[in-house]
Amino acid sequence: MSKPNKKLFIVGIGPGDLSLLTQAAQKALKEAEVVLGYKTYLEQISPYLEGKEALSSRMTEEVERAREALRLASSGKKVALVSGGDPSLYGMSAAVFEVLEANREVFREVEIEVIPGVTAACAAAARLGAPLSNDCAFISLSDRLTPWEKIAKRIALAAEGDFVLVFYNPRSKRRRDQLKRALEIVKLYRGPETPLALVRGAYRPEEKIILTTLRKGEEIISQADMASTIVVGNSLSRLGKNFFLTPRGYGEKYRLGHEKA
Ligand SMILES: C[S@@+](CC[C@H](N)C(=O)[O-])C[C@H]1O[C@@H](n2cnc3c(N)ncnc32)[C@H](O)[C@@H]1O
Repeated sequence: MSKPNKKLFIVGIGPGDLSLLTQAAQKALKEAEVVLGYKTYLEQISPYLEGKEALSSRMTEEVERAREALRLASSGKKVALVSGGDPSLYGMSAAVFEVLEANREVFREVEIEVIPGVTAACAAAARLGAPLSNDCAFISLSDRLTPWEKIAKRIALAAEGDFVLVFYNPRSKRRRDQLKRALEIVKLYRGPETPLALVRGAYRPEEKIILTTLRKGEEIISQADMASTIVVGNSLSRLGKNFFLTPRGYGEKYRLGHEKA
C-alpha cells in the first residue's frame, strides 16, 4: 500500500498561459511542498510557488530531475514535478516511470499521479483553426534520444498514410537541418499546395503564427526554433483566408452552404 504522504504529482502546465492551467494542476501545485522543473516552466507558474521550495534545473537534466523528485517524495515530502504542455508527450512522465521501473523497490511507497495538460499540438491547433480534425501523427524531430533514421522512417510512413503531421522540437541551435529534411520527405507524398503552419510560443506574449504551403516552406524553416510547433496538412487540408482546415467530412454528409449573408 502506498502512503499518502509519499506523493509525487507530475503536473502538465499547458503551453504557457496560466488561463490554460487546469484546476487539477492548480490543486496539485497548491498541495505540493516542493516544486521541481525546468526554470522557464517554474517562471510560468511563479504565482503558485509562494511559500514553497522551488528547485529549477536545465532542460536536458530530466533524468536527474525525475530521480530527485522520486527521492524527495520517498523521503515523505509532497512533490510536484512540472512539465510543459502535457507530461505524457515528450514530457516528464517517461523519465519518472523509467527511473521508477529501474528502482522499483527503492521507490515502492511513492504514489504517483499524472495531471494532464494542454499539449502544444492542441494549443497550436486552437490558434490555426481546425487543422487536426482528422487522424494525425505527433513526431519529435529531436535526435537526442531517437536516431534520425528512425524519425525519417516515421515521417515517411505517416506522410504515406495521409496523417496530418505535427512536428515537435523542430529546430534548435545545434540541430539546424532536421525540419528541412523532414519537409523534403513529406514532399515525396504531398503536393506543393499542402497547408503548412508554424506556431511559435502559443499562448505566450511572444506568440507568432505563419500560415503558408509546402511550396513556400523556406520561411517556416528559417523561423522555426525550439518554441515552435509545425503542422503539415493531409491531402484534404486547405487554407482559408486566415485559417487552416482539415475537413472532417461534414460537407460530404450535410448541406453546409445555405446560411443567409
Ligand atoms: C520537449 S517538447 C515538450 C512538449 C510538451 N510536453 C507538450 O505536451 O506540449 C518541447 C516542444 O514542444 C513544443 N512546444 C511547447 N510549448 C509550445 C508553445 N507554447 N508553442 C508552440 N510549441 C510549443 C515545441 O515544439 C517544443 O520544441
